[in-house]
Amino acid sequence: MTRRRARAPREPAGLPAGTVMRPMTGSDVETVVALERVLFPGEAWSRELIASEVAASCAQVPDRRYLVVERDSPQGPTLLGYSGLWFGDGKGDADLLSIATVLAARRQGIASAMLTELVSTAREAGCRAVLLEVRESNLAARSLYARHGFEPIGTRRRYYLAPLEDAVVMRLPLQPGAQPGPVGAEHL
Ligand SMILES: CC(C)(COP(=O)(O)OP(=O)(O)OC[C@H]1O[C@@H](n2cnc3c(N)ncnc32)[C@H](O)[C@@H]1OP(=O)(O)O)[C@@H](O)C(=O)NCCC(=O)NCCS
Repeated sequence: MTRRRARAPREPAGLPAGTVMRPMTGSDVETVVALERVLFPGEAWSRELIASEVAASCAQVPDRRYLVVERDSPQGPTLLGYSGLWFGDGKGDADLLSIATVLAARRQGIASAMLTELVSTAREAGCRAVLLEVRESNLAARSLYARHGFEPIGTRRRYYLAPLEDAVVMRLPLQPGAQPGPVGAEHL
């Protein structure tokens, strides 16, 4: 499948050889819908939600950013990872909305490269911090976030439904001295 590219792709440090990072576009929606069902069974985002998130990220004044990492091959590009971050107007905290790498491409630095890029986006937008929720049992993701300097600041009881589980809220301060508020009041 050939994908239209919104901007020239580039290779940030840390991406595996032969892969590129670029903005997610409308032509990625079907692929991401299929991957969501595999990577987040029980809580996959719908086609409508993914399409509206991509559309919002392509607005003239976007308040969120979505990225994909793909590998080119003679058969066409293969999507290996995707992620998104909401940064709003840059006056508050950013939220990591999603991050995932296909099983066959894990432990090669793909999520790390996307996270580094999205944290830079939040910093450039002026955000005070990046926040995220992660399943308590998701040790791979928690380890990824800890490696990037995120620290747990609380839990949200029964935040995930399928299956039911608490969320750990993690935070990465982007400005010196920016203190976390109580969990649940991040956008006040
Ligand atoms: C979590 C996830 C995004 C990590 O993607 P990835 O591309 O494999 O991550 P990276 O290769 O960039 O890993 C960077 C670091 O994160 C940590 N990490 C990643 N996977 C890990 C695992 N399975 N166990 C322990 N630490 C892990 C390590 O510190 C790793 O560095 P290292 O490989 O040098 O030790 C991936 O496992 C995934 O897609 N999981 C399913 C979807 C998901 O849970 N998303 C997060 C929702 S909150």
